[in-house]
Amino acid sequence: MFDKTCPESFELHIEGLALFCAPKEELFKRPNGVYEPAYAPVFYNPAMIENRDITMAVLRNELTRHKGVFIFVDPMAATGVRSIRFALEVLAGVDKEVEIFMGDISDDAVKLIMHNIKVSNIDSLSNVNVHVNLMDANELLYYLRRQKLYIDYIDIDPFGSPAPFLHSALSTIRDGGVVGITATDTAVLEGKYPATLYRRYGVKGVKSIISKDIAIRALLAYTMKTASIFDNFVYPILSYYTKHYVRIFVKVRKSATKADEYLKKCLGTMMVCNRCGFNFLVSEETGARDVRCPICGGTMVSIKPLWICNLFDSEYVRKTYELAKEMPWLSRSSLNILNKLSDATPLGSTIRVTYIARVLNVKPPSIKRVIECIRNKGFKASESLLYPDALLTNATANDIVTCIKNFK
Ligand SMILES: C[S@@+](CC[C@H](N)C(=O)[O-])C[C@H]1O[C@@H](n2cnc3c(N)ncnc32)[C@H](O)[C@@H]1O
Repeated sequence: MFDKTCPESFELHIEGLALFCAPKEELFKRPNGVYEPAYAPVFYNPAMIENRDITMAVLRNELTRHKGVFIFVDPMAATGVRSIRFALEVLAGVDKEVEIFMGDISDDAVKLIMHNIKVSNIDSLSNVNVHVNLMDANELLYYLRRQKLYIDYIDIDPFGSPAPFLHSALSTIRDGGVVGITATDTAVLEGKYPATLYRRYGVKGVKSIISKDIAIRALLAYTMKTASIFDNFVYPILSYYTKHYVRIFVKVRKSATKADEYLKKCLGTMMVCNRCGFNFLVSEETGARDVRCPICGGTMVSIKPLWICNLFDSEYVRKTYELAKEMPWLSRSSLNILNKLSDATPLGSTIRVTYIARVLNVKPPSIKRVIECIRNKGFKASESLLYPDALLTNATANDIVTCIKNFK
């Protein structure tokens, strides 16, 4: 029988196909009346729906190519909603044996997870084994590593920086497995606090006009560097920045030789102009040097080490988007993210048209017209998810200028 009651201060919520207990929002509000998930005894943030929706689509993609028992680890599970959704939206009706490990350091969270397993009825799925652990995430991941299990997917979703959990995740995941990582310390990753950025992620940088782009690259670079400690290398299959967080999904592979190659090829420097935001990436081999911005003559600052290879795998993203379209319960905003990424160039620079138009002293043209103009010149260009006035392109500075001036 379904148990559809909730403990005091909690109520039934629906997200995706999951029914579960989560905090009563009206009890945990900031003085301005807005629900604050961090005030609740167990964390649940409905604003993270795209994060969980896209995770479900990625997991569907992973399951299509997977053989044997699939092992999923959710070491910061809070209400358990992510694992419950995985069981109901990805596994139900699939002929696949799955082990789900949920954990949380909070006693209240673990009690709620146990309750939500009953509320959502996932314990009735015959192909799914669920384990719940009251443990620190690192403790759980190292425990699983000691069991020599082949972990296929690990979700790192802390409140703040994921850095303290990446050693355990990147050393525990199997060769070819995927780690999904969320970072909500975006002010740090964007360079607002340079000392913290360096201390936490080893990146030397400052805030800039395109700092959301830098935040994704800083997290990827740190993830690659951490993986390399274990003779592993990573590459992003999907990454984006939306709302208040950065989300990356990396595939982890074992090879010391390749790790050396990736460190050399994929970690480098971004040169960015602080007047107009024009930017370009420089590999370690080429080396960064002092230059003036080719568009406005402004000083270009260097930020490093950043991930300078593809930000996602276009084919993987397209397949994930196709699979997501077959899940009608996913939110429109999640599909929109996947749609935009499917269209985007994974190696483009983020260019903010209003800043460049300002230094050129012209009225900013519409993004769509600039994209069309750049494409007509034979370069790649697409809308950016990062800023409403931004596009992603591999065009040269000259061509960007011509296309922005074109519509005077
Ligand atoms: C942002 S919430 C996770 C939300 C959840 N993944 C979701 O999708 O709804 C972070 C959770 O991590 C837990 N947590 C914090 N530090 C932890 C640690 N060191 N080990 C395990 N869990 C931890 C918190 O109790 C909280 O429930």
